[in-house]
Amino acid sequence: MSEKKRRILVTSALPYANGPIHIGHLVEYIQTDIWVRYQKMQGHECYYVCADDAHGTPIMLHAEKLGVTPQQLVDRVQEEHLRDFTGFGIVFDNYYSTHSEENRSVVNTIYQRLLENGHITRRTIQQLYDPVKQMFLPDRFIRGECPNCHAPDQYGDHCEQCNRTHSPMELINPVSAVSGEKPVIRESEHLFFRLPDFEAMLRDWVHGGHLQQEVINKLDEWFKAGLQEWDISRDTPYFGFEIPGLPDKYFYVWLDAPIGYLASFRNLCDRTGLDFDAFTRPGADQDTEMYHFVGKDIMYFHALFWPATLYGSNFRTPTAIFVHGFLTVNGQKMSKSRGTFIQAATYLEHLDPEYLRYYYAAKLGNGVDDIDLNFEDFTLRVNADLVGKVVNIASRCAGFINKRFAGRLHAGLHNEALFGQLAACGSSIASAYAGREYSRAMREIMALADRINQYIDEQKPWVLAREEHRAEELQAVCTLGLNGFRLIVTYLKPVLPVLARKTEAFLAIPPLEWRDAGTPLLDHKIGTFSPLMTRVEREKMEAMLTASAEPAPGAAPRQSHLSTNPLAEQITIEDFVRIDLRVARILRAEHVDGAEKLLRLELDLGGETRKVFAGIKSAYDPEALRGRLTVMVANLAPRKMKFGISEGMVLAASGSGSGIYLLSPDSGAEPGMRIK
Ligand code: MSP
Ligand code: ZN
Repeated sequence: MSEKKRRILVTSALPYANGPIHIGHLVEYIQTDIWVRYQKMQGHECYYVCADDAHGTPIMLHAEKLGVTPQQLVDRVQEEHLRDFTGFGIVFDNYYSTHSEENRSVVNTIYQRLLENGHITRRTIQQLYDPVKQMFLPDRFIRGECPNCHAPDQYGDHCEQCNRTHSPMELINPVSAVSGEKPVIRESEHLFFRLPDFEAMLRDWVHGGHLQQEVINKLDEWFKAGLQEWDISRDTPYFGFEIPGLPDKYFYVWLDAPIGYLASFRNLCDRTGLDFDAFTRPGADQDTEMYHFVGKDIMYFHALFWPATLYGSNFRTPTAIFVHGFLTVNGQKMSKSRGTFIQAATYLEHLDPEYLRYYYAAKLGNGVDDIDLNFEDFTLRVNADLVGKVVNIASRCAGFINKRFAGRLHAGLHNEALFGQLAACGSSIASAYAGREYSRAMREIMALADRINQYIDEQKPWVLAREEHRAEELQAVCTLGLNGFRLIVTYLKPVLPVLARKTEAFLAIPPLEWRDAGTPLLDHKIGTFSPLMTRVEREKMEAMLTASAEPAPGAAPRQSHLSTNPLAEQITIEDFVRIDLRVARILRAEHVDGAEKLLRLELDLGGETRKVFAGIKSAYDPEALRGRLTVMVANLAPRKMKFGISEGMVLAASGSGSGIYLLSPDSGAEPGMRIK
């Protein structure tokens, strides 16, 4: 049985030092933590390292807005991140920062080697520049009209209205989101990593058993589209590492971020005497393993740039990249206005972190599918499985052992065959953990819990307890029940470390180990039983959602909407009265097949009805709109759209990334009233 002791280095993606950890992030960190705990429980040597991703323009500007230095900001956020992770039982062997001397040193080594090997070129490019702020503008800091569909106030690289990508140079009437000023075009020399040099190596690597099939398919599309050189430099001002020998030039954050994995590990090695090279030199893959857990949004960086960067600079390549999908809440993207943008810290104020660890485990497979957190389902599942099935076994048996037998377990197994069957399931559950099929592992474990509960139902210890001459049988039945419970908690331990710790205290045993699972606990004195886990309380969950709907206390002030979307040109009252605004009642609202943003509305204008398409799908459930009053532009010329003709427009407020708010008159207004 004894597998060779493996040596494993594991990472999760480095969270930006820009904002708090939320329940979306936690999918990844919980997924990784479970895997690492499982490997450690198997007796393998496994190191889990992570860090804050500290560099880049957004962090620099965020710090400026808060009136602190970037260093102060990243120090503070790193502490908060680590506190949140710890709260969720996510335990790193090292949690570091990309803004560290170790990282600077590995980055410089890698850059130097890429340069020497001819994988870096220089080229002058044109970029939009903010003349007031005196900085080049990253795409997401430029707003303007979409060159394709002419929607106003779109990002520099992508239109949220028509969902097409464009270059910031193509944007109509671009505006800097930093100063509100019109940007100018400027030239600058940039460094490029010659990704196409690695095409053959990458094709081999991608098909070499390191990736999930869905990821391979995506990469094949990218190969087909052709690999592009990658811009790895940025101009001052920038928060990052200066490029040696090139004043005022910095490494792009995405170059130094994955290198931060190695730097965090380097720091761990330096502190503990571990051998860094044994995990990182070329050929290290013969006897050590390196895994990266990441979300599907950053697959490109990890499955193409990263192996090429490592290979081109004489480091080992990853053993595998494990990609997961995104979290949705109640079927929709997390949203601040719906109160489903739940921060880790807010969750911890209201609910037990082990509920979420279990729920995610019960949902996670080894693919890249999104997973949905539905609060109704969450409550039912946690209460039914953990409280109703698992903990229930202990509470059904412990009382008898404590009260009737002074806490001593029987010396024999009442049903050896049953115990043997439960123990035999361990290898299937183990392989589910190893293959990241946590939902299968949870299903199999719950089936075992059902079996033990069924056994207790059949043996009826509460009946045995009434018959004095059957005391020994009572003790034996409860002993078997508790042994089943112990097995189940062993199997759940990677997911529920706190439940495991409480169980160890209750059973008065050393830490549960996978390899001990098959040896029953007999003729042993247990401790007293206290409730190991309580039910999810609806009120607490609702309190958490309410708290999430409000801006967190001490949250950074939002960027002014006036600066991201400056006032339009002045008009006269005559201009204004040409626009006929009316109160309208929404008679019907429905989804439009194939439209990502639109709802089809039927409006009553007080006698006349109008059909209008409105880009409000992300914020409103059609059901909730029916009967509601709103305001429409009633004399807008009908417009032919892809999905039909729109006979007007409803009015809604929106800003960059902060939701959509449909206007409505105070109650008492009637359809058809004019607004002036
Ligand atoms: N800083 C980069 C990663 C650099 S790794 C060298 C980054 N940071 S992030 O904070 O935006 O995301 C960190 C991880 O959390 C990513 O793997 C990302 O996919 C994951 N998630 C962020 N939001 C998520 C959901 N809503 N759902 C699931 N995972 C999500 O990207
Ligand atoms: Zn567009």
